[in-house]
Amino acid sequence: MIERTLSIIKPHAVKKNIIGKIFTRIEHIGFKIIGSKMIRLSQTQAIGFYIEHKEKLFFQNIIQSITLGPVMIFVLEKENAIQHFRDLIGATNPEHALPGTIRADYANNMTENAIHGSDSTMSAIREIDYFFQESEIFPHCY
Ligand code: TYD
Ligand code: MG
Repeated sequence: MIERTLSIIKPHAVKKNIIGKIFTRIEHIGFKIIGSKMIRLSQTQAIGFYIEHKEKLFFQNIIQSITLGPVMIFVLEKENAIQHFRDLIGATNPEHALPGTIRADYANNMTENAIHGSDSTMSAIREIDYFFQESEIFPHCY
């Protein structure tokens, strides 16, 4: 099934000047970038995005880290996009991320782990809707 998923290149990775490298990898394995924007998240936007983690000890760290600078947010489309993209980015803890994954290559540590990917169908729908109007998404013509 063709799915959509949401990704965010996190501030420290934007700062490393690797947006192009990451986009190249993503496009190379067949994902279509069907929407994209660069923004700096407000505290409120960040808290809303990560609300499922609000009771966690690391919550303040992720809010601080994701609001440090601009992020690149984009919507991807592909067969089985959600799981395939999680496989491409690698484990949350970059020490456990398989070689060749984006996190293995570009993460600094668990919090600064380079990139976000939706973890389920429900999350993907919620997260895409959180950042994009339908008019800002351009489905690929097959
Ligand atoms: P989570 O949704 O568990 O990971 P993922 O991004 O792989 O879906 O956590 C959200 C982010 O919170 C994660 O990308 C990095 C950060 N984080 C920490 O800083 N410390 C932690 O112990 C965990 C689990 C996550
Ligand atoms: Mg998650």
